[in-house]
Amino acid sequence: MALTAEAVGNIRARFPIFERKIYLNSCSQGALSTTVEAGLLDFVVSWHQSGSPWDVWMQKYEQARAVFARLIGAEPDEVAIVPSASAGIAGVASALGFDRRPKVVLGEFEFPTMGHVWLAQRPRGAQVQFVPAENNALPPAAYDRLIDDRTLIVPLTHVSFLNGFRSDVAAITRLAHERGALLLLDGYQDCGTRPLDVKELGVDFYVSGTLKYLLGPPGVAFLYVRRELAPSLAPAVTGWIGQANPFAFDLKRFDLGPGARRFETGTPPIINLYGSIPGIELLTGLGLDQVSAQIAMLAHALVEGTRRLCIRLKTPEATVGPLVVLQAQNLQALLARLDARGIVASGRHDGLRISFHVYNTLGDVEQLLRVLQDNLDLLVREG
Ligand SMILES: Cc1ncc(COP(=O)(O)O)c(C=O)c1O
Repeated sequence: MALTAEAVGNIRARFPIFERKIYLNSCSQGALSTTVEAGLLDFVVSWHQSGSPWDVWMQKYEQARAVFARLIGAEPDEVAIVPSASAGIAGVASALGFDRRPKVVLGEFEFPTMGHVWLAQRPRGAQVQFVPAENNALPPAAYDRLIDDRTLIVPLTHVSFLNGFRSDVAAITRLAHERGALLLLDGYQDCGTRPLDVKELGVDFYVSGTLKYLLGPPGVAFLYVRRELAPSLAPAVTGWIGQANPFAFDLKRFDLGPGARRFETGTPPIINLYGSIPGIELLTGLGLDQVSAQIAMLAHALVEGTRRLCIRLKTPEATVGPLVVLQAQNLQALLARLDARGIVASGRHDGLRISFHVYNTLGDVEQLLRVLQDNLDLLVREG
């Protein structure tokens, strides 16, 4: 069920940026709420008052793990807290061997990190193959042609940062598993926009972070590792917090922690965790179904509006989600025009990225469409 306009108004009132801007850039950084700001300040207060309350801070650490685990349908011991998605992915790569299965198969719409981390494994024997896109999409059939019994892992973006294309996770996971390969889902551009259940999806690894649709600060990401898999993995990217007993401070003993914790490395980013928990709780408090309905309604309105204006979309209509990407002729000029009229968006290559979250309204879409209409010469048109 969609949220009422009044409910959306109440949510929006908690994000002061809307007093000054039309914020359409959650795909890059979620807007700051007063709730998250208060969480960050709580950390400062605890530091002022107690100096080094590590017992309290470690409780926050566990609370963040539990809150994220619940969001994705996992258990807390299946979740590692890592400083970035890149760090989580690098930890996974470091735990795998490429002798029997050297192939890593990934699509062209992955975030660059995904290419970099797996290409960095080539000296260790990895053979990286990129799945080519067809008409702005990466259908399961394209993966089907490359995944085989020499494939070790298929890294897969849930929603592409580049053009908003949504992958068919269930079908590609099935393909990977049928051929004995692992699947690592990068949920960064989806997480926080819809309900999610990693168990239902059946993925082996899932990575996401807090700064986009989870409405938190940078500096925190989460890595889910399927329970049955974790004990067999020994990451070479490691450190004291990833040990079974970090507080033994035993320099000479290497004894990885249980479950996903073994993928952790150093001192946790406590201030960021203070800011991350309220962001996630704000969304779970509203209900991810409601969040998703609001986003779908806005994305639909934008797609309709661009059709009327004959603007070419880079996002395939069949998979439109929180991120809608329009093809620009002159992206920098277009971003400058939007900025001049108070609209915050972003761009990649020739794509103008418009992303919606629960705090956006049809009024935002209308204002955006007005600026687009006034600048059609900067966009690629159909027909
Ligand atoms: C899909 C996706 N994956 C990964 C990242 C990068 O995450 P991090 O900087 O935490 O490594 C981004 C950031 O834009 C992203 O959009």
